[in-house]
Amino acid sequence: MFGSRVFIALFSSVAAISTVNAYTGRASSDSLGTTPCPTQCPLTDYRAALPVDLFPNGEKCCSTVYVSYQGVNIDVTFTDLFLAGAGSFNISLSDKAFAELAPLELGQISPVVWNL
Ligand SMILES: *[C@@H]1O[C@H](CO)[C@@H](O)[C@H](O)[C@H]1NC(C)=O
Repeated sequence: MFGSRVFIALFSSVAAISTVNAYTGRASSDSLGTTPCPTQCPLTDYRAALPVDLFPNGEKCCSTVYVSYQGVNIDVTFTDLFLAGAGSFNISLSDKAFAELAPLELGQISPVVWNL
C-alpha cells in the first residue's frame, strides 16, 4: 500500500513538471530594449527580462524563472519585459545572473533554456 502511494506521488509530480513550458533562446547581458514590469518586484541582483509578447500585461511578473545553460541552472526573478525580444524566446539577464552562466564579456549566449 505504502509503496504504491509513493509511486503515485512521484508519478504525478513528474507529470506536473513535464507540463511546464520550456523555451529556448539567446540570453544577452545588456538591458537594451527592456522595460520594468508594471509591478514592482522585490529587489534582487538576479533578474530576467522575458519577451513582452508572451506576457503583454506583465502576467507572471515577479515569478521565479529557471534558466539553464550548458548544464548550469540558476533561479532569477522575472522583473522586466523584453521589448526587443518580442517574437522570439530570447531573454535579457542582469549582469550578476549572466555571470553565473558564462563570462560577462561574452555579452550573449545560446542556447539558453528557460521556464517559469
Ligand atoms: C534571438 O536570438 C537569435 C540568436 O540566437 C537572433 O538571431 C534573433 O534575431 C533574436 N531575436 C530577437 C527578436 O531578438
